[in-house]
Amino acid sequence: MRYLVTGGLGFIGSNFLHRLVPSRPGDSFVNVDCCSYAANPKSVESLEGCANYRFVRADLAEAAEVREVVGAVEPDVVVHFAAESHVDRSIRGPESFLKSNVVGTFNLLEAVRERWGARRDGVRFHHVSTDEVFGSLGAEGAFNEETPYDPSSPYSATKAASDHLVRAWHRTFGIPVTISNCSNNYGPRQHPEKLMPLMIMNAAAGKPLPVYGQGANVRDWLHVEDHCAAIELIVDKGTPGQTYNVGGHGERTNMQVVDAICEAVAKETGRSLASVRDQIRFVQDRPGHDFRYAIDPRRIERELQWSPRWSFEDGLRDTVRWYLANDAWCASAVNEEYHAWTQTHYGTSQTEGQTS
Ligand code: TYD
Repeated sequence: MRYLVTGGLGFIGSNFLHRLVPSRPGDSFVNVDCCSYAANPKSVESLEGCANYRFVRADLAEAAEVREVVGAVEPDVVVHFAAESHVDRSIRGPESFLKSNVVGTFNLLEAVRERWGARRDGVRFHHVSTDEVFGSLGAEGAFNEETPYDPSSPYSATKAASDHLVRAWHRTFGIPVTISNCSNNYGPRQHPEKLMPLMIMNAAAGKPLPVYGQGANVRDWLHVEDHCAAIELIVDKGTPGQTYNVGGHGERTNMQVVDAICEAVAKETGRSLASVRDQIRFVQDRPGHDFRYAIDPRRIERELQWSPRWSFEDGLRDTVRWYLANDAWCASAVNEEYHAWTQTHYGTSQTEGQTS
């Protein structure tokens, strides 16, 4: 099988490649990425020597580039991770989200439709999406595959649009697609603009830990390895045209997450818990901040026998250890662009040195 994996220099895409490339030596994997700010070549460094892996730089927002790469690779399976994904950036500058998430998905679908023609057997287009397309929950309930779309942010609106495109290309043109909508991922190789790596790296560096509002918002945490296992199953055994919600039964308030990170960092570094907790700062809330996300993953558990292997506690401890042990990766992520982002978004306080 020939796999074309988009966005493989990003967080989930690179973890997916780490899972599949070594375990499927008879298959070939082409990682297509446009190398945006969030792409990190270090995330796939250890795959560079694998005979069944190669990297191609291409921008999905450019139709000709997509057609060329799809024509050259002739994939049997496309796994589409590439997307702009940070809600706060989408609030400050939505345009790149439309280009990457909407136009990029459209160009990829069209290139695949052209290449596959009437072929329906042995081909699959898997689209990786988010639970944010469903909007916000109150204190009760969980999103299932029938929950109506109700996105809040420019980011989630563009992911919703891309999901609709993928479904339409199935219904109208018969492309064998599957879609997964997952809850918040965490684990190794995540860009530090996101809550977990931001808090871990700042906690370790003695920098402020910026909690939006009161930290009462709830996210449903899913270890990236569990998510990648789910995607592998869907690609192999999922029903064309079907959507699967993937969640780790890991609901926590943001304060619970930050407290757990402070504890883990204190323990791993030998610092006192009080000194790490002293770095917490309550800052201006995000506009349109969704209160709560929670996934009902019963369809994928029942139909594909998937279940998460990581408990939140073990996953978080392992994740904290990964960031503390991988200085070179962390240093490559905290580049000039990242400093510019944190300055713009959080103000100078974020880039201060030791606070305690
Ligand atoms: P994030 O990792 O950006 O994921 P998403 O917005 O897609 O859920 O944020 C997770 C939660 O953490 C969300 O409720 C916003 C909050 N948050 C903070 O409190 N402070 C921060 O600096 C960031 C980046 C997020």
